[in-house]
Amino acid sequence: MGIGFLIFFVLFVSSIASVVTQNTSGFHHFWLVQSWPPVFCQKYPCKNPPLDFVLHGLWPVNSSGHTLKNSSRGKFDFVGTIGNSSLRGELEKNWPSLVYSDSANFWEHEWEEHGSGQPLMEPTEYFQAAIRLRKSVDLMSTLKREGILPNGTSYPITDFVDATKDIYGHPRLTCSYGYLLNEVNLCVDSQARNFISCNHRERKSTTCRKRITFPRHVKIENGYIWHEE
Ligand SMILES: *[C@@H]1O[C@H](CO)[C@@H](O)[C@H](O)[C@H]1NC(C)=O
Ligand SMILES: *[C@@H]1O[C@H](CO)[C@@H](O)[C@H](O)[C@H]1NC(C)=O
Ligand SMILES: *[C@@H]1O[C@H](CO)[C@@H](O)[C@H](O)[C@H]1NC(C)=O
Ligand SMILES: *[C@@H]1O[C@H](CO)[C@@H](O)[C@H](O)[C@H]1NC(C)=O
Ligand SMILES: *[C@@H]1O[C@H](CO)[C@@H](O)[C@H](O)[C@H]1NC(C)=O
Repeated sequence: MGIGFLIFFVLFVSSIASVVTQNTSGFHHFWLVQSWPPVFCQKYPCKNPPLDFVLHGLWPVNSSGHTLKNSSRGKFDFVGTIGNSSLRGELEKNWPSLVYSDSANFWEHEWEEHGSGQPLMEPTEYFQAAIRLRKSVDLMSTLKREGILPNGTSYPITDFVDATKDIYGHPRLTCSYGYLLNEVNLCVDSQARNFISCNHRERKSTTCRKRITFPRHVKIENGYIWHEE
């Protein structure tokens, strides 16, 4: 068997793999979306937000970075399916809802609106993948190491990108009002295994301007939570 055949074989197998992963839904890869509570919680009243990035979701997107929403894979009964299993404890720890009083409703929503838009994983596997990815990321330490602290200072967006891109690939950032860091999206391959750089179109779709403020505290007033600069 010559090298020519081997090359043919490898190309053949990888073309099958890409047909499988890029099927009619247009699914191409994922965003691991993490919220920065001092800003995220301005829009949504939160309960007990920690001062760390919090996993919002693992969202399937197409190759131009549009989220694939509400597939026809139907409703998901979290309590009936996952109930009180150890997976639930892992989710509570690594994927707590900032907003819902019962996180089970949040995970159901994330599966129904986002998770079901990918064709490769069933709910249990999807939740496990999200947890595994979240556990493998420590944005806060990564940023701190590069001197980027949540202290209300504003930084060029390129500082955020440079601090994270060697470890997690080029991120896509979203901001409130164009300047308050709201969420960091890290791109993940279609197998939900490895971080990849977000592509040019995804990066261009940032909602942040050239400088980003990284606010610190969360202050509760009348049940609503605001950031302090
Ligand atoms: C991705 O989805 C958006 C919105 O549905 C669509 O406009 C765009 O053409 C899609 N891109 C690809 C490459 O399928
Ligand atoms: C799950 O645990 C909760 C509280 O720990 C309890 O109220 C509920 O009955 C349990 N549900 C099942 C299906 O075991
Ligand atoms: C998608 O699903 C969510 C939650 O299940 C629902 O709130 C929303 O209205 C749905 N959107 C569309 C466009 O069907
Ligand atoms: C896309 O994925 C779904 C779910 O696995 C599958 O039913 C469907 O046949 C796939 N479509 C193509 C064109 O491969
Ligand atoms: C915030 O931290 C940065 C980096 O250490 C520092 O340059 C800046 O002066 C600090 N800003 C405030 C308001 O403490």
